[in-house]
Amino acid sequence: MDITFLLNGESVSLRGVSPTTTLLDWLREDRQLTGTKEGCNEGDCGACTVMVTDENGSRALNGCVLFLPQLDGKHVTTIEGLAAPDGRLHPAQQAMIDHHGSQCGFCTPGFVVSMATAHLNGATDHDTQLAGNLCRCTGYAPIIRAAEETARKPVPPHLLHLSNYNSGGPGAEPPNGAARAIQPRSADALAEWYLQNPDATLIAGATDVGLWVTKQFRGLGPVAFLNRCDDLRGVEESGTGIRIGAMTTLSDVETAIAPHHPGFAAMIRRYGSVQVRNAATIGGNIANGSPIGDSPPALIALGATLHLRKGDARRAIPLEDFFIAYGKQDRAPGEFVEAVSIPRQPDTLRCYKLSKRFDQDISAVCGCLAITRESGIITAARLAYGGMAGTPKRAAQAEEALVGQPFAEAAFRDAMEAMTRDFEPLSDMRASATYRMKAAQNMLLRYFHEMSGTATDVLEVSP
Ligand SMILES: Cc1cc2nc3c(=O)[nH]c(=O)nc-3n(C[C@H](O)[C@H](O)[C@H](O)COP(=O)(O)OP(=O)(O)OC[C@H]3O[C@@H](n4cnc5c(N)ncnc54)[C@H](O)[C@@H]3O)c2cc1C
Ligand code: FES
Ligand code: FES
Repeated sequence: MDITFLLNGESVSLRGVSPTTTLLDWLREDRQLTGTKEGCNEGDCGACTVMVTDENGSRALNGCVLFLPQLDGKHVTTIEGLAAPDGRLHPAQQAMIDHHGSQCGFCTPGFVVSMATAHLNGATDHDTQLAGNLCRCTGYAPIIRAAEETARKPVPPHLLHLSNYNSGGPGAEPPNGAARAIQPRSADALAEWYLQNPDATLIAGATDVGLWVTKQFRGLGPVAFLNRCDDLRGVEESGTGIRIGAMTTLSDVETAIAPHHPGFAAMIRRYGSVQVRNAATIGGNIANGSPIGDSPPALIALGATLHLRKGDARRAIPLEDFFIAYGKQDRAPGEFVEAVSIPRQPDTLRCYKLSKRFDQDISAVCGCLAITRESGIITAARLAYGGMAGTPKRAAQAEEALVGQPFAEAAFRDAMEAMTRDFEPLSDMRASATYRMKAAQNMLLRYFHEMSGTATDVLEVSP
């Protein structure tokens, strides 16, 4: 493929690159820019963090799960590009020295790039901004002190006006049906090509597909990169609901959904890390059909509709019907996800993500519950769970046990009992079947207490 982007302010044009070359490999092997480190090579440690700028601003991304074509038209800033042209260190670099934030130094470039990106964006929630960066030797206190110190300093002038390349050139023509790797500029162009190449792999944020390459060494065959389909990205609000384009990142979903369903946004805050949320898309999180994806249970609890497209034909189905069985979704060859929409409704949603770590961990169980009541009587219940079956699934028996009952603990206890007939969870490395069932039942009880005004979140309950 042919791509053009800016690297630390200089234009780079690559011709005939392998579409699945990661930015990390290219930086280190082709450019000898070895400041960007390889730790896990799967998006977990942040050692490979780079800053990527486009018309939507600058964000931190993991270079190990970022294919070169995803950078077309953008500006990449690596650790080597942070110091001022006269050699003066970036405030984050200086603060890491001053606060003794580095011992072996392996994680340090990644931390510094994350800090510099947060600094540029005025983000001061340092724990969140740095949750995707792991340090094995220094300990986080000096690093957080360095981040706090950085936040008190002005943004260096050379980073204030980072521009993107925004090439109108390579990839701008409609893709040729016989091409093996494409980067269409619209959903129309994607639809046409995908119809002729239904066995192709679509690449959105690559936080799943990247690992197929870096960890499973899979060849992908024909590929389509969706990152230049601007018409698949963005959130539209209307009187009837909220429509989220498939290419909208989890970071953007978090921002857009917060005023409507803060519980959903709070859960997204625990989805991967800043770097992962900046790359991962809502379309990818649905289309991968994972039984432990975090957004499907929340969307199902909200009664979401999935919008699918094949060629010029479009259809809309309840999201819950998309997940047929483990590894099997209601998606025909050549069909792709265009958007997901949520009906406007009063907010009754609470999302409970249970994982071994607070940040950057996959759910063992994720329960998203929305219960409506009128005059104290439960009139509707949508209880959607991830991690309890081969697909994200509603607890139909538990829902039935609730509807028509007074909003009281007794009804919730009955629903907890009924839930044993809804699921037969698996035991695996994340949790045993017994633990999963107990946790899922207790989420229901937690919902009752939370909606009754009792603080239930570990972050809210004072000792
Ligand atoms: C470090 C790390 C942490 C993670 N943490 C979490 C977490 O906390 N919670 C969680 O739920 N997930 C997590 N994930 C998994 C991953 O981020 C999500 O599944 C993500 O949403 C996938 O989206 P993507 O845009 O990166 O998809 P991609 O990797 O690009 O694609 C995933 C799949 O979806 C298909 N696809 C993508 N877009 C479309 C479309 N529009 N139409 C049809 N098919 C499409 C692709 O062909 C592929 O099969 C994590 C991953 C990593 C690496
Ligand atoms: S090398 Fe660990 S996140 Fe990229
Ligand atoms: S300083 Fe050694 S891993 Fe962080």
